[in-house]
This record gives sequence, structure tokens and C-alpha cells, in this order.
Amino acid sequence: MSSDKINFIHSGRIIEILNPDPNETLLNFVRTKLKKTGTKEGCAEGGCGACTVVLGELKNSDISYTAVNSCITFLPTIAGKQLILVEDLISKDNSLHPVQEAMVKCHGSQCGFCTPGFIMSLFSMFKNHSKFKEDIIKDSIAGNLCRCTGYKPIIKAAKSLQTKNKIDHFVKNKKKTIFLLKKIGNKSIIIYQKNKKYFAPRYISELKKILKKNTNSKLLSGGTDLSLVVTKERKDIESIIYMNSIKELNYIKNNNKYIEVGATTSLNDFEKYIVKYYPDFNKILKRYGSTQIRNVATLAGNIATASPIGDNLPLLMALDCQIVLQGIKKSKILSINDFFIGYRKTKLKTGQFIHSIRIPIFKKSIFKAYKISKRYDDDISSICAAFNLIIENKKIKEIKIAYGGMSALPQRATYCEKVLLNSLITMDVINKAKNALEKDFSPISDMRASGSYRKVVAKNLLEKCFLEINTKKLIGIYS
Ligand SMILES: Cc1cc2nc3c(=O)[nH]c(=O)nc-3n(C[C@H](O)[C@H](O)[C@H](O)COP(=O)(O)OP(=O)(O)OC[C@H]3O[C@@H](n4cnc5c(N)ncnc54)[C@H](O)[C@@H]3O)c2cc1C
Ligand code: FES
Ligand code: FES
Repeated sequence: MSSDKINFIHSGRIIEILNPDPNETLLNFVRTKLKKTGTKEGCAEGGCGACTVVLGELKNSDISYTAVNSCITFLPTIAGKQLILVEDLISKDNSLHPVQEAMVKCHGSQCGFCTPGFIMSLFSMFKNHSKFKEDIIKDSIAGNLCRCTGYKPIIKAAKSLQTKNKIDHFVKNKKKTIFLLKKIGNKSIIIYQKNKKYFAPRYISELKKILKKNTNSKLLSGGTDLSLVVTKERKDIESIIYMNSIKELNYIKNNNKYIEVGATTSLNDFEKYIVKYYPDFNKILKRYGSTQIRNVATLAGNIATASPIGDNLPLLMALDCQIVLQGIKKSKILSINDFFIGYRKTKLKTGQFIHSIRIPIFKKSIFKAYKISKRYDDDISSICAAFNLIIENKKIKEIKIAYGGMSALPQRATYCEKVLLNSLITMDVINKAKNALEKDFSPISDMRASGSYRKVVAKNLLEKCFLEINTKKLIGIYS
């Protein structure tokens, strides 16, 4: 059964909204309708973290807590969840939450504009981890910008949480929250609001029926690309099909030959899984947007966006992945190397959606990936490179190289691959392969990097890859 209203839990009660505007952001709703102004708007594009809120969701009869950027979250997508705002952290007896106490004690705030966002990111960390080590802290707040306090006092506050009692009022009220979450359930939603439509199917079968009748709809997964049409371009999206309520598409399977990642699986879940198989994939994902972005963004969304600087794309291409496309009647499997056909253009047809991504498990391969961006955290790549090779008796027996940021689409370096294939790894061969990159790519200059810089860096990354393989050491300031 479908519903035209959304229900969610806030501050211990059920909130019901009939026919919400599908394009309204959660941030706007929180500030103007709930009148809770602790949550701030900084950038309205997921980049500063000032708008961070936490969503609670039922998972295996427990509550999982996820930090998200409310500025790029559409209100209807929080149906069936618990909304936690900075105002909700204080207890009924007015005592501060351990995270708030720590920030006060360590002087983690000056002007205070960024503070609610930091508090919510740290609250999410507090709920999701038991040890607050430096890497976990930095990962948790990499999506939050502060322009006056500086990060040291905030990191100090986060470290001090190690000694705090974890039994906060959310733990004490857990039973009641689980009861309320079960009561509202997670229904399929269909909203018609003036000239806008919103569908949130729960099953693939429902999705197919909706797609059949609404061919002009936009598929929405994490919304970390699509919602910017509303928040930055200031345009409406007239018809939205929200994918992330479809649990059938939220999975990671492994049959020893390939890993299959369902379309609605978050990058955060994927990054935890892939580290065992391809540590460099995880390394790149750690620098992909922020925790708030990766909590909701998907591989499928990144692939369908087809940006030449989409970070997953060169990695998936070098790993020779397959994309499982599902239509209303038939499904099709395409190599990712044949999927991109032009600037932000793919072979995805109307009525089709990405069902899953298959990543081969190369047991004998060396897989290396590099991301070059102006800022280490939370920045889009200028160049991204991935190398997948098998070396036997010092000879390159197999090689796949792909670059992002070097042309209008993510692309394999085929001339370069030819030079390297069946060659011994010598400086002479590496130099020839570097020169072959000139044949593969003629990069443009834009605000992220000049064409000549891109060429030099692409060559240097190739050399770095082989130096690291030969010396069995990582080279660079971050290694
Ligand atoms: C602050 C910020 C930082 C970012 N940092 C990075 C970064 O470091 N590296 C990077 O590569 N990207 C980055 N991005 C871009 C974005 O996060 C990624 O492209 C992300 O993977 C998109 O996934 P999504 O699920 O949010 O897609 P959505 O925004 O939901 O959708 C994107 C596109 O994919 C389509 N789509 C979604 N799901 C499907 C499906 N199952 N089948 C077919 N089409 C589908 C949508 O219709 C839409 O056209 C960043 C974005 C923001 C806002
Ligand atoms: S307002 Fe900057 S991330 Fe949302
Ligand atoms: S305290 Fe002013 S921006 Fe962080």
C-alpha cells in the first residue's frame, strides 16, 4: 500500500506531513517549519557541514545513526526515520550531551556558526564508534569547515569523549524510539504536489511499474549530485523516483569471482567492504567528499552522473567492472569500459536503471590508485588514476590503466597500456609509456588545473606507481 504522507520521529513523537513539497530541503523544513534554527546553512551544496543533522534508522532491530547534510536532503526522503537535531542533544533536565560538554570544556567554539554541525558529526561518531582515535575523529569531521576556532580544540574535545559515559538519553529512550519507528514503518510513498511528483517504491517490482508510467522522472539515490539542481541551479525537479527505500538493491555479495554491489548501497558501506580486496580503493574513498556525503552517496549515482572527475570511475574501469542495467522488462550487462559515450553521457536508456555493479576479484593483481586535488579532504579531483597489473618474472603480463580528469570522460590509457604490456619494467619502458600518455589524452584547462599540469601529473603518477612497485614503498607526503 502507498501513502501520500510522510511520517518520521522527532523529539520522541511522530510527525506526519501530508503531501510535502518533493523539492523542499530538510534544512529549509527544519529552520522554517520546525523553527529550529541551530542547524545552519553555509554553502547549500554539501561542502561545509554547517547543516549536519543525524538520522536514526531501524537496522536489525537496533538504531543506526547517520550524519547527513540537510541542505541537500529532500524532506520526503526522511520518511520512516528518526530526525535528530542539535537542539535534541540536551537532556530534559537541561544537562548537556557529552559531546556538547566536551566542546565547551575544550573551547571548541568561537563565533559558533559551524559548531552545531561539528556537534552533530561528533555525535554520530560517538554513537558509531567505541574508540575515538585520531583517524576516526578526522574522518568524522572532514566534512565540517571552521573558519575561526581552528581544528585542534575540536579534535581535543573529540578525543576527550573516550572517557565519557556512553549511556546518553538516546540509549535510555531507545526502546520507545524503536517502538515508534516500527509503528510508522517504511511505506511506499507517492506524492502529487501541484506540478511535482515524488515516488519512493520499496520493491524493484514497484519501481518498474512507476518507471513505465513516468518515463521523464529523475532517479534519486543519495542526492549528492541531483539535489544540487534545486539548491544551486535553483530549478525544480518535477518528478523524482527515490531509489534508496528499495532494500533489495542495498547489498554487497561475493561469489569469489566478483563482488556485486547493489545500486542503493552507500559508499560508506562499500568502503568498509572493499578495503580487504583493494586497499587503494578504500584509500580513495576516504578522500571522497565527506562522511556525510559517503553515508548516502552511491556507486550507481557516481556512474550515472558520468562526470570525467567522478572518483570511482577510473578505478572501476581499471578493474574492468560490469554494470547490471535493469529495464522494465529485460536486464543487460555492460562493461563499464563501454558505458561512457561522451561528456556526462552514458548508454543508460529511458526506463532503465543501474541495478548493481560487479567488481572482478583479481587475486594476482597489483591495484594502485591516486587522487590529486587542491585540498586533501572533501575536494573533487583534478586528476585521478588507477593501475591494475599482473607482473610475472619482472614482465608486465596484464595491465589496465584508467584516468579521470584527463578528457571529457573517464578513459582507459590504451596507447600507454600497449607500450607496457609484455615489457620488462625498466626506466626506458616507463619513459616510453609516459610519452604514450600524450597520445591517449589532450586534457583541457579549467578551474581545477591547467592542461599542461594535468599532463605532467598523469605522467608522474605512472612513474610513481612503478617506483612504488619496484621499491615496495609508498612515495609521497601522505604515505
Ligand atoms: C560536497 C560534495 C563532495 C563530493 N565529493 C566527490 C568526490 O570526492 N568524488 C566524486 O567522484 N564525487 C563527489 N561528489 C559527487 C557525488 O557525491 C557523487 O557523484 C555520488 O557518487 C553521487 O551518488 P548519489 O547516490 O548521491 O547520486 P544522486 O545525486 O542521487 O544521482 C546522481 C545521478 O545518478 C542518477 N542515478 C542515481 N541512481 C541511479 C541508478 N540506480 N540508476 C540509474 N541512474 C541513477 C540520478 O538520476 C542522477 O542523474 C561530491 C558531491 C558533493 C555534494
Ligand atoms: S550548508 Fe554547507 S553542507 Fe549544507
Ligand atoms: S567557530 Fe566560527 S566558524 Fe567555527
